[in-house]
Amino acid sequence: MAERYDVLVIGGGPGGYVAAIRAAQLGFRTACVERRETLGGTCLNIGCIPSKALLHSSERLVEARERLAEHGIRVGEVALDLAAMMARKDKVVAGLTRGVEFLFRKNRIDWKKGTGRIAAPGRVVVTAADGSESEIFASSIVIATGSEPTPLAGIAIDEERILSSTGALALSRVPRTLAVIGGGYIGLELGSVWQRLGAKVTVIEALDRVVPSMDGELGRTLLRALSRQGIEFRLQARLLAVRKGEAGVSLELEGGSLDAEIVLLAVGRRPLTDGLGLESLGVERDGSGAIAVDPGFATNVPGIYAIGDAIRGPMLAHKASEEGIAVAERIAGQKPSIDYDRVPAVVYTFPEVASVGKTEEELKAAGTDYRVGKFPFTANPRARTNGETEGFVKVLAGKETDRVLGVHIIGADASTMIAEAVLAKEFGASAEDIARTSHAHPTLSEAIKEAALATDGRVIHM
Ligand code: NAI
Repeated sequence: MAERYDVLVIGGGPGGYVAAIRAAQLGFRTACVERRETLGGTCLNIGCIPSKALLHSSERLVEARERLAEHGIRVGEVALDLAAMMARKDKVVAGLTRGVEFLFRKNRIDWKKGTGRIAAPGRVVVTAADGSESEIFASSIVIATGSEPTPLAGIAIDEERILSSTGALALSRVPRTLAVIGGGYIGLELGSVWQRLGAKVTVIEALDRVVPSMDGELGRTLLRALSRQGIEFRLQARLLAVRKGEAGVSLELEGGSLDAEIVLLAVGRRPLTDGLGLESLGVERDGSGAIAVDPGFATNVPGIYAIGDAIRGPMLAHKASEEGIAVAERIAGQKPSIDYDRVPAVVYTFPEVASVGKTEEELKAAGTDYRVGKFPFTANPRARTNGETEGFVKVLAGKETDRVLGVHIIGADASTMIAEAVLAKEFGASAEDIARTSHAHPTLSEAIKEAALATDGRVIHM
């Protein structure tokens, strides 16, 4: 007999599982369809979490090899045990995905293991791994099926020689050479991991800059920092063809060629909605192939909602989670809304890069008058104490209004520091508000206060 739910979420990633928890909190009988053996989606299983585990571990290796001596710490021979590093990563992932299962049990959410297809509004067919089908009725259906790597024409990912991020998180040995196609989030993070572990990494980027969606000054500074660490960059390099040979892969580029043992393809991601039955239901998409939704995440078909990577906007876990909470509250008749100008973006390289709000390029293009306040970590006492002085904080404030329009940070721990700037934007703060806020000394976040002071020429420590 078919089961009945108030809310059925398809997809158990950071969009879907959070939507399910919030729906359950609001008193809805809730289920979540997920076909993976574990909950947590791309983020927990093959994305944010395993990549951060490897970034953290590989940073410890570099620290032990190159930086402990300056602290007066002598260690013996430093060696990599890749198998142990990978096992640790897998353990971290397993612990966190089990954590989501626990949260489902705690909130009485039923996990329907299998692949969901919306047969009709209010009716979903779930196909289990063994092929058996079950039918579920639900008043509201939330699509949270996420995204998949965008393929490049003529290049087949085999996860052995030509990898997506999934393969690049699970190599069993360090390649001698790694060519990374795409200088975005994945290319720079996973490129950093393998460079630190000993590979000669070359990043091939079609544009004239890396992390092109971020403020140009951050991109330029990050490019310099990563180049100094040993990553080679070929900018404005278009990939023409790829040939797999005995020993590796030959890449034919516009104006040159490159041989590499392994290639990582990281040229973006695209919504993953295959097999959901959207075409026969008449669910509309926007020009990019994402599911079209209104500000309340409703599609054009009543009772069907969509969130996360499957809809427009940055493909970020925390953006999907905010939408998960908001969609459940919308279904409950509340009216939450999300201001996408207040969603931070972070690249977890070293130094880290973190941004919120408008970039200088965006402000110029919009003709907005603004003031810039910049403060380098070389002038921040805590950064000097830690020996991590690379980078700066940049605050962009409205010329007349003084309102914080954008904050851009490159430096150690920028990912944690950006939260203050997001909160400032959430409260509609002015640069003066940040400048008047007491910041503990000595901390890296004092650089944010100084950058806010600098928008008005009142910087103290420079
Ligand atoms: P991305 O959009 O960040 O970067 C792709 C890069 O590839 C761009 O710089 C683009 O100009 C370049 N490119 C495109 N076609 C190319 C070609 N044919 N040849 C050379 N370069 C080319 O995409 P990425 O790195 O694949 O990441 C996918 C998504 O995953 C991102 O949108 C991001 O939102 C998310 N992600 C977020 C992370 C974070 O929050 N720290 C970490 C990893 C991924």
